[in-house]
Amino acid sequence: MDLEERFAGGVALTPYQDLVEKCLYYLAREDERQKIAAKGFEIFSRTKQSEYLGNALNLKYEPTDQEISQDGSEDGSGDGSRILSQETRKEINKGISEEVFTEISHESRQRSLYLDLMQKCLTNTIYQDRPQDIWSGQAYSKKKRARGLDWPSMAHTMIGSLRMANLREIVEKVLEDDIAGDFIETGTWRGGACIFMRAILKDYGVTDRKIWCADSFQGLPVPESNKYPEDAGDTHFTYDQLRVSLQEVQDNFRKYDLLDGQVEFLKGWFKDTLPIAPIKSLAVLRLDGDLYQSTMEGFQHLYHKLSKGGFVIIDDYGAVPACKKAVHDFRKEKSITDPINDIDGVGVWWRKIG
Ligand SMILES: C[S@@+](CC[C@H](N)C(=O)[O-])C[C@H]1O[C@@H](n2cnc3c(N)ncnc32)[C@H](O)[C@@H]1O
Repeated sequence: MDLEERFAGGVALTPYQDLVEKCLYYLAREDERQKIAAKGFEIFSRTKQSEYLGNALNLKYEPTDQEISQDGSEDGSGDGSRILSQETRKEINKGISEEVFTEISHESRQRSLYLDLMQKCLTNTIYQDRPQDIWSGQAYSKKKRARGLDWPSMAHTMIGSLRMANLREIVEKVLEDDIAGDFIETGTWRGGACIFMRAILKDYGVTDRKIWCADSFQGLPVPESNKYPEDAGDTHFTYDQLRVSLQEVQDNFRKYDLLDGQVEFLKGWFKDTLPIAPIKSLAVLRLDGDLYQSTMEGFQHLYHKLSKGGFVIIDDYGAVPACKKAVHDFRKEKSITDPINDIDGVGVWWRKIG
């Protein structure tokens, strides 16, 4: 193997030139090397050894159905070590004992299976409940549920599988990058997206972050068209399907054994609750209040609390023109230029860089 080949993986991420420069820089700077070592030690000392090694080896992957069936156990719950390619096993066996390696792969798969199942339960793609909105008819549609285009009669979230998957990716990225702050959703309805965020924290053993659930718990407000002409004529407030009580949302958290001191509820209209919410900082700001007013109030009272490197997600951007307008008005007012990314043609997100 020649030198070029050894660096092939790295070169895909960093140009060769920069890699060489970086190596020379760190060779020359003892203090920088010490800093990196100290950070590594700190992460290592607060993370389980198997988890740390799992992350370092990047073992987070989705096994295919075929791989699961090769796993040797009917339900795919074997030790997991058999589903890795020969190549990966060879690489890993060079440095780590089989015993530790088996533990890592097992743990990493369990995590993925739990969160996959949570997503399926919360969106109810399992029992496929009928929609209860006025445009979908009586039949469950796989495509609509994937993109969060129906109001489910039973599922605990209406945001659909793609936006749930996006939420998971974002929360996991925040944990990976150690971005400071709690997670909030303004507009929780039955609580599904917040329950999912709580599940992810639990799964990663994170105990120092909170999930904030902000909602009137009695549906949307009557539009204040004088102040927010963009909402004139909006009829969301007339829908009983959008009124979900605090009690019901708390019961939903309990059903998953996820109601505890890391979940906080802000009950009332956003204009009253958000300005005085005792939140220090946020890493994820998920806005799902449909209206111009509800979206704008989320931005005005919370965006400054979003940490640098944190994420904002706007659920209704592609579905409600007034919501989209609030996004652009706020970005213009605050000169925000961080690029907007589409999720599923409806929801969008950006990362607070500037
Ligand atoms: C579309 S639903 C949210 C869906 C939810 N995120 C999910 O996972 O299924 C909108 C929610 O926002 C709430 N809401 C909208 N505007 C509000 C406001 N100004 N103040 C308080 N709650 C509001 C409604 O009560 C409703 O529960």
